[in-house]
Amino acid sequence: MGQDVRVTPESWTARGEARVRGASGRDLLVFGGIPGEPADVWVQHSGQHQALGLWRSSPTPHEHRVEPPCDRYTPCGGCPLMHLDQPGQERARRALVRAALDGEGLDDVTLGAWHASPDGEDAFRHVVKVGAGYSDHGHVRVGAWGRRSRSIVPIPKCPVATPTLRRAMSSIAHHVIELGIKPYDPESDRGVLRAVVARQSRSSGEVLLTLVVGRRVRALVDLAEALAQDVTEVVGVWAHVNDDPGNAIYSRDEDGAVGVRPLLGRSWIEDVLNGVSYRIGPGDFFQTNPSVAEVLYRRTLDGLKLVSDSAFVDLYAGVGGLALQAASRGVWSMGVEGLEGAVLRARDAAHRNELTAEFVCGDVGALLPDVKRRLAGRRPMVAINPARRGLEEGVVERLIDLEPRRIAYISCNPRALAHDLASFRAHGYQIGEVELFDMFPNTAHVETLVVLTGEDPDAPTRRAPKRRVVRAR
Ligand SMILES: C[S@@+](CC[C@H](N)C(=O)[O-])C[C@H]1O[C@@H](n2cnc3c(N)ncnc32)[C@H](O)[C@@H]1O
Repeated sequence: MGQDVRVTPESWTARGEARVRGASGRDLLVFGGIPGEPADVWVQHSGQHQALGLWRSSPTPHEHRVEPPCDRYTPCGGCPLMHLDQPGQERARRALVRAALDGEGLDDVTLGAWHASPDGEDAFRHVVKVGAGYSDHGHVRVGAWGRRSRSIVPIPKCPVATPTLRRAMSSIAHHVIELGIKPYDPESDRGVLRAVVARQSRSSGEVLLTLVVGRRVRALVDLAEALAQDVTEVVGVWAHVNDDPGNAIYSRDEDGAVGVRPLLGRSWIEDVLNGVSYRIGPGDFFQTNPSVAEVLYRRTLDGLKLVSDSAFVDLYAGVGGLALQAASRGVWSMGVEGLEGAVLRARDAAHRNELTAEFVCGDVGALLPDVKRRLAGRRPMVAINPARRGLEEGVVERLIDLEPRRIAYISCNPRALAHDLASFRAHGYQIGEVELFDMFPNTAHVETLVVLTGEDPDAPTRRAPKRRVVRAR
């Protein structure tokens, strides 16, 4: 099966493979390859539109090539840039962002600082998502969804997860097998466990587990109890039913909410970023790498050049990330977020941190006219941090209608970012340097921050809108 070829890839794919352009557009994507490095590649799969290959060796290894420090590097595939040293990974991420900007005609936009992960490239991951399924030999397994397949690869020594989350993953795998809990198969609607989302707080060490299941059964309570006994950092275990077809981890209702039922303990953990304490519940978004998030938040607010009478609007606010950081600098602050649970936790965090910030729940696009009314003619400083797909249709126009002085755009998807930046430029906004943050070391993902400047950003303002007393519900 397969064949060996000698090739020299030219560029990176967004998934972190090295691309060899093929005749008539049929590319070869090489896992473990590096653009510019001649390589012997095993072609594992040859499809109509693309071929997939695995790097075997190189006659002249690239200066940035290293031995990946993980024995599951190839079957797991979750860390596709682990075969590069840190300067090599930075170069790859810069190339991906550059290509995305150039693709939208933004060749004049420059790339700025690279912010390395302060805690290093190992054990930075404070959230892990593992699947339940079967090995190629039909044994029940809990682990990563394998590279370009859905078979499960156990990753008990995963070097990028925190040591506690590693223990939690091993414990889940052990007890799932011991309790005879079968993996859920949405096609046949048989079995129980589909996935587990585990989050650890960097500040308290506590762990919250969400078991994603096709159905709820009594054995899940036994599993929760066994896990909490084994891994003492576990303070809460929740069940979320998802019997939908497809590969999405969560099944969201029409409001985007993730329904959960208690199995054991509390529904939240707390984490502290730059001195502000946040509460995170099952299904909430919170940054993967908290030490990078701290740098990102500081750079964002510094880049906006907030002054005491600024009005700050945090769109896609999650559990209050940037809105609460701005409030802690004494700035009038409001956040808009679609998930009700996250909004309740953001309000609660404002209360507990003794900060004044308003949070509204709903779709950003739909709520922007209300935000404009609330600003009562003031030109705000805005931060936007949408999901991977970028801004929904119409959001750029409604946002421009607020006449923001500056907009800080935080993105984890360079292509969506570039597309939206082109729209902001068409509306007259000046695009600053794109800074890169190593939020996800060893992967092809990169977090970026860019500040856009509107007309006369520092013109004097009337006082910020009157503060409302916001009580936690
Ligand atoms: C990438 S996260 C950013 C969270 C936050 N800025 C932080 O630093 O933790 C995106 C957030 O946007 C929310 N979201 C996605 N689409 C939305 C929409 N159309 N309207 C409101 N919120 C939305 C998600 O629930 C998620 O909390």
